[in-house]
Amino acid sequence: MTQFLSTAPYKGTRDFLPAEMSVRTQVFSKLYAVIESYGFERYDGPLLEPVELYEAKSGSELVNEQLFTLTDQGGRRLALRPEMTPSVARMIAANAPQLAFPARWYSHPNCHRYERPQKGRVREHWQINVDVFGSESLEAEVEIFELIHDMLCSLGAKPSQYEIRANDRVLAHSALRTYARIPDESLGKVMRVLDRWEKYPRDVVLKQLGELGLDSASITACEELTAKDFAGICAVAAPEDVAKSRLATILNSGMTNAAVRFDPLIVRGLDYYTSTVFEVFDTNPENRRSIFGGGRYDNLTALFSKQRIPGIGFGMGDVTLMDFLSGHGLAPAPNAGAQVVVLPLSPATRTPLKEAAARLRRAGLRVTTPHEDTQLGKELKKADKCGAKVAVIIGEDELARGKLVVRDLRRSTQREVAREDITAAVLAVLEHVD
Ligand code: HAM
Repeated sequence: MTQFLSTAPYKGTRDFLPAEMSVRTQVFSKLYAVIESYGFERYDGPLLEPVELYEAKSGSELVNEQLFTLTDQGGRRLALRPEMTPSVARMIAANAPQLAFPARWYSHPNCHRYERPQKGRVREHWQINVDVFGSESLEAEVEIFELIHDMLCSLGAKPSQYEIRANDRVLAHSALRTYARIPDESLGKVMRVLDRWEKYPRDVVLKQLGELGLDSASITACEELTAKDFAGICAVAAPEDVAKSRLATILNSGMTNAAVRFDPLIVRGLDYYTSTVFEVFDTNPENRRSIFGGGRYDNLTALFSKQRIPGIGFGMGDVTLMDFLSGHGLAPAPNAGAQVVVLPLSPATRTPLKEAAARLRRAGLRVTTPHEDTQLGKELKKADKCGAKVAVIIGEDELARGKLVVRDLRRSTQREVAREDITAAVLAVLEHVD
């Protein structure tokens, strides 16, 4: 017996059928428009990158547990990109002499991570990346926070439906050093454990801190830090670090209109962040994973050249964004299929059929015509099933009188119109339906 292949996509990846693709296209085109309204320019890059690009600064979890790797025929170790930031840092470093800074760049790559598929986590996701390069100004952070706010508003979200939670690694390191007595060489490892604070049970995280060699006083202090508010963290961090902290300055001076909340648990798993870090969450508890994640990374281009070009930006994932939109009733309805079908009653009406279809397409409508001559009844049923709203029927008798039939498929009503009035008549039906 023939053994058929599975029709399911590879675990953790998704097929996007036309209706779903139509929803995504509407959502993403709104987001591109908002991002471009801030002057960001779109770029793209390769899906395959050398493994070393991630080994340098992306962090052990991403590199050791989540990379899809392969060796090419020339023996080079490659990875399917798990994120875009190292690639864009490479592109910025390579093209720095020709660029005007600050450079505002955005992209929409698919990224691959070998993760256990679960709510909010897949193995291939699409991530809008937005980054500003070459700006030391706090206004870069503010611009990014306000852009996030405007992106979500453009999709109909209300500020009460999401939260921008931020921290600053300068402040977090300082509090860990002074309050929890963590030595500099352990800061990265402790931060990585703290990143799991909300994802794992308390005893698991405390045990992991113990495995890093921390004594019980330091472990207790770490736990206390996770519960402190902004003033509490500033009170225990070294004053010179509070003064240096970009986020502390932004929050203390009220520089941003976007609602940014300090959260000591925003640590971020990627190693390259140097100060401001943030994530955006849905306030709907069903959608627990972050929608956006990002931060400032001052030294990533140093991997490629002597020139130090600071960057700040974020990645916004499609999975949690779509969950956010459907959870709040904000996902648009699909609208990509044909709106109009033009049907010939006999082979002799094929030429006027093409003329009518062309005229309607020129008016911006989505129009199909049948490839074969079949019965009108069957074609009308098919048109309805495909979601078309109007049928234009072309018969020899009507044509002889300079007329066509325009049928409203929803109401099952129809009328004859003059050939030259076809566009207005179809638009009138569509307006009525929509
Ligand atoms: P990230 O936090 O790893 O940051 O990912 C950003 C967003 O991508 C997350 O908030 C989430 O929405 C989505 N995401 C990540 N992994 C998955 C997954 N396995 N399944 C579904 N969605 C996922 C970065 O990647 C940084 N490179 C972002 C960045 C840009 N930082 C500065 N510029």
